[in-house]
Amino acid sequence: MASLTIRKLDDSLKTYLRLRSAQNGRSVEEEVRVILRALTEPADPSEPPSTPLPATLPEPLVPQPGSAREARVTLIIGGGIAAYKSLDLIRRLKERHIHVRCVMTKAATQFVTELAASALSGDRVFTDLFDARSEFDVGHIRLARDCDLIVVAPATADLMAKMAQGHADDLASAILLAASRPILLAPAMNPMMWSNPATRRNAATLQRDGVHMIGPNAGEMAEKGEAGVGRMAEPTEIAEAVVAMLKPPVPRPLAGRRVLITAGPTHEPIDPVRYIANRSSGKQGFAIAAAAQAAGADVRLITGPVELADPKGVRVTHVESARQMLEAVEAELPADVAIFAAAVADWRVANEGGQKLKKTDKAIPPLQLVENPDILATISKLKEKRPDLVIGFAAETEHLIDNAKAKFARKGCDWIVANDVSPATGVMGGDRNTVHLLTKDADGVHVASWPIMTKDEVATALVAEIARTVGQSA
Ligand SMILES: Cc1cc2nc3c(=O)[nH]c(=O)nc-3n(C[C@H](O)[C@H](O)[C@H](O)COP(=O)(O)O)c2cc1C
Repeated sequence: MASLTIRKLDDSLKTYLRLRSAQNGRSVEEEVRVILRALTEPADPSEPPSTPLPATLPEPLVPQPGSAREARVTLIIGGGIAAYKSLDLIRRLKERHIHVRCVMTKAATQFVTELAASALSGDRVFTDLFDARSEFDVGHIRLARDCDLIVVAPATADLMAKMAQGHADDLASAILLAASRPILLAPAMNPMMWSNPATRRNAATLQRDGVHMIGPNAGEMAEKGEAGVGRMAEPTEIAEAVVAMLKPPVPRPLAGRRVLITAGPTHEPIDPVRYIANRSSGKQGFAIAAAAQAAGADVRLITGPVELADPKGVRVTHVESARQMLEAVEAELPADVAIFAAAVADWRVANEGGQKLKKTDKAIPPLQLVENPDILATISKLKEKRPDLVIGFAAETEHLIDNAKAKFARKGCDWIVANDVSPATGVMGGDRNTVHLLTKDADGVHVASWPIMTKDEVATALVAEIARTVGQSA
């Protein structure tokens, strides 16, 4: 039987065959064989059915959990000593139900074999830009585009330099230049190579171009006696980063909004070493800051002294006293939303000692208290720069709703989040909270009682409520 030369077919037929074979996950030759067999033989039930080709192929979507199609990654293995870890990376990606198609540079084949990468990935490995068979079957453009993400691991100094310069003289660099999908690099090289100004310039150029990077980490290098920054991120770390990049973008309903939050207690000095404080841990305010940041807001958190790490991506101002807190709040205005979750001391010591008060035989020093500024009322009543939505917290130990309603009437804010902080609830310092959201309209005050939740869940629910309200007023 005469052999079929696909190259001699006309262009539209070739395009049809390429698209159809991509759709069905076969090589062009295999697809042609399936078509010919279907014409000459009764259907073979063991052969996976061909999907009819739509008029135009849809853009590859990042597959959703439970979707029929696996996510696809093109893994480019560069020529570095860390290439052996890429074999493990293939396994870690496959464990996460990600299809991996490997491309190896010439140098990479000096470190690991095509056979190993192919056996682990369960697919052909591509190495040559000028391989007629690969080019016709799959082609460098399809390798660049028929995937959801391109990962380069290890990304060698040489490969990064080629990318930064836009070279395309081998399969890996041609794919990277033709890519229309996000690219994640896992650099790995000797610490001197990584810190070399040329590599620093290339890394900065690539980041400016929107290329993502993971690592390199600090530690021992594969070469004996070498240590420093340059070690490739571990395969599980890279696999987790891949999973995160494949996730659909999280909705960011508060994007473009500035949200100001206060948290924690205040410390009111008695003298240079003593102060009056309360048991607030700051956990609820910090959780709200993190939730608002995750919702896309530009978050400004002003906190009293707490034992918590600053939430990522949030601008944090640390203060001690109520007066400092008010000053910091005013400095962050204007804001779209202000949430006053801090437990601000109502009073401070009027006669603060300039030196440590001494214990003498004479009488106990009298502490005179004066009222602190009321931050919630001050901001709620601003004529200029009042945030569109001002939310206060009412932490009460008795008559929760009645006290919260009275506070609502006094302060001039828009919502009150009321919570019972009596010692039996464990709310102060604990991880759970039971809150009631007080809002008002023409009919009066409404109280929505939420079930007991973690402070993170309360934060997420509150931010969702804020996003709904602020979104409506946009
Ligand atoms: C034993 C050995 C280990 C190497 N390890 C690295 C490395 O970890 N990172 C790197 O950037 N280059 C490393 N190189 C140099 C690269 O192999 C060389 O720059 C090569 O051209 C990179 O090819 P690529 O662009 O295909 O990655 C190593 C070379 C040798 C001989």
